[in-house]
Amino acid sequence: MHPAFRHGRTAVVTGAASGIGLAAAVRFAREGLSVWLADLPGEALECARAEVAAAATAGAAVRALPTDVGRREAMDALRDAASADGPPAVVMLNAGIEAGGTLFSDEATWRRILDTNLWGVINGIEAFAPVMIEGGTDGAIVVTGSKQGITTPPGNTPYNVSKAGVKVATEALAHDLRERGAKVSAHLLIPGFVYTGLTKARGVARKPDGAWTPEETVSFLITGMARGDFYILCPDNETTRRQDEKRIAWAAGDLIENRPALSRWHPDYADAYRRTMAE
Ligand code: NAI
Repeated sequence: MHPAFRHGRTAVVTGAASGIGLAAAVRFAREGLSVWLADLPGEALECARAEVAAAATAGAAVRALPTDVGRREAMDALRDAASADGPPAVVMLNAGIEAGGTLFSDEATWRRILDTNLWGVINGIEAFAPVMIEGGTDGAIVVTGSKQGITTPPGNTPYNVSKAGVKVATEALAHDLRERGAKVSAHLLIPGFVYTGLTKARGVARKPDGAWTPEETVSFLITGMARGDFYILCPDNETTRRQDEKRIAWAAGDLIENRPALSRWHPDYADAYRRTMAE
């Protein structure tokens, strides 16, 4: 296990009322950490708190604080609440929405997606990293990114922009922590296709065979953190790591080879892309 996972220490998870965040909160509580669940106010958050409490190791406190991650004051309040017994050991900045955004979505849609996905992470880093660094004890900050922030497929543009920003911010955090010699590590979780509230919102009623469960995703995260990995690139039941590697290399190749933007989806490059994937 990553050394931050110690009985009696505290974990904070945003977007903890559903999906990957809920599975992470359950797992952290099972590992003996006290857990703060943060999500938008509502019944889902209270139900999640009860579910995590039922799974928790004896002595691990499980609490919920309604929090809009896009609001800095709300993230500061979460930090203050969760730091009462010392700085948190594990902070997972995971809240995220797709909200059906496109390049030509109205400003309100763009802002809602960026406020949650990108500002939620920036607010979380700025609220939590200083107290964790100053605490001088083992810690980990996990940020949930997306393959869509790396290969940036057409459609969902506000989401892709937010997740590309999240990758950059988390890389900068990892570098900063390393330069300071902090005992806190940063990790970018890059889920594959996972069956969660986000997938259900696309109208998918049952877990597709190709999707992982949130629990599988969290197990993969815990293993990657234990190895000290920064990039925790998850496969799923339809995409292998090798396929992801080729897709990421193809996306970077657009620039190096001076191909058109998003050439993976350009008809003139369809054969070349297919050959690359088949190799
Ligand atoms: P989910 O919809 O099950 O969970 C996301 C949670 O975030 C929800 O409980 C939602 O209420 C909460 N949330 C939304 N806006 C919030 C706000 N302003 N403040 C606080 N909480 C807020 O979806 P899932 O899939 O578990 O999402 C978790 C993360 O994983 C997201 O960042 C998502 O972008 C990312 N992800 C998911 C993938 C998938 O296939 N499900 C693939 C790649 C990344």
